[in-house]
Amino acid sequence: MRSVTLCALALSAVLCGALQAEEKLSMSEADKAMYAELLESNPAEMDVAEGEQLFGELIGTATYAKMLGVKEKDLPKYLSGFPRYLDPAKKVVTIAQSIQMAALAAGKPVPKLESKEMVKMSAYVKSLANGQKTSIDVKANKHMEQMHKLGQQVFEERRGGRGLSCNSCHSADIVGSRLRMQPLPDLGAKETAAAGTWPAYRMTQSQMVTLDKRMQQCMKNALLAEIPLGSREMVALEVYVTNKTKGNAISIPSVKR
Ligand code: HEC
Repeated sequence: MRSVTLCALALSAVLCGALQAEEKLSMSEADKAMYAELLESNPAEMDVAEGEQLFGELIGTATYAKMLGVKEKDLPKYLSGFPRYLDPAKKVVTIAQSIQMAALAAGKPVPKLESKEMVKMSAYVKSLANGQKTSIDVKANKHMEQMHKLGQQVFEERRGGRGLSCNSCHSADIVGSRLRMQPLPDLGAKETAAAGTWPAYRMTQSQMVTLDKRMQQCMKNALLAEIPLGSREMVALEVYVTNKTKGNAISIPSVKR
């Protein structure tokens, strides 16, 4: 229904096509029941537990905290502020990139961003901040300011053959809806809480997915060239999207459609 209504609003024909493709993934009653069940026992909890083990073997929280320059007991609060500027990297980095930095500093093999191990470890590390409110500070320094600005540009830039931007589907005015299960989530809505809920178990993929990979899936669906993981543009998008729901509680892993 929704896609039909949106198409009636005379959005581009291609956008309607993309919407209808997404619509097929919309929640049926059976899916809703499955979602409720998954909330009770989330398969991604296993991944987070494995992530804890892998992370412990690779570096451990003490060495990691030291690399970050914080006390171990202050890790939860500190982690709630990612992506952040890290001086040793001389750039704004995500939690996954900070794990790579710690591995490198410890003389350990550096896990690739796209590896299963990294997905699990970054979910574990972020889960240390569960219950904290996301506290990204896009005004903290000029690096953060620049990345936030770049993120907004990437978000609003119309790309690809279809001329779509992230904003074509994710602005408050196009849907104005507030429900979590909406086919078109307003990324700034508190209920979406994109900042505090990824990595999440995606029902439609039967696996845990990170925020950057989730964004790549949107790019793929909308036929936008995929921005590579770890690139300046991808980190900037993460900064921008995270800041949209700053203040929401962190809850890893969550369940998404
Ligand atoms: C053609 C429409 C469309 C475009 C363009 C699009 N998205 Fe999405 N996006 C969706 C839909 C639909 C969903 C939610 C589907 C669902 O319910 O699982 C979604 C979900 C998301 C989510 C997860 C929200 C949550 O639940 O936490 C993020 C983050 C996101 N998109 C980011 C982006 C970014 C960044 C871009 C630009 C690169 C983008 N999207 C472009 C349609 C789009």
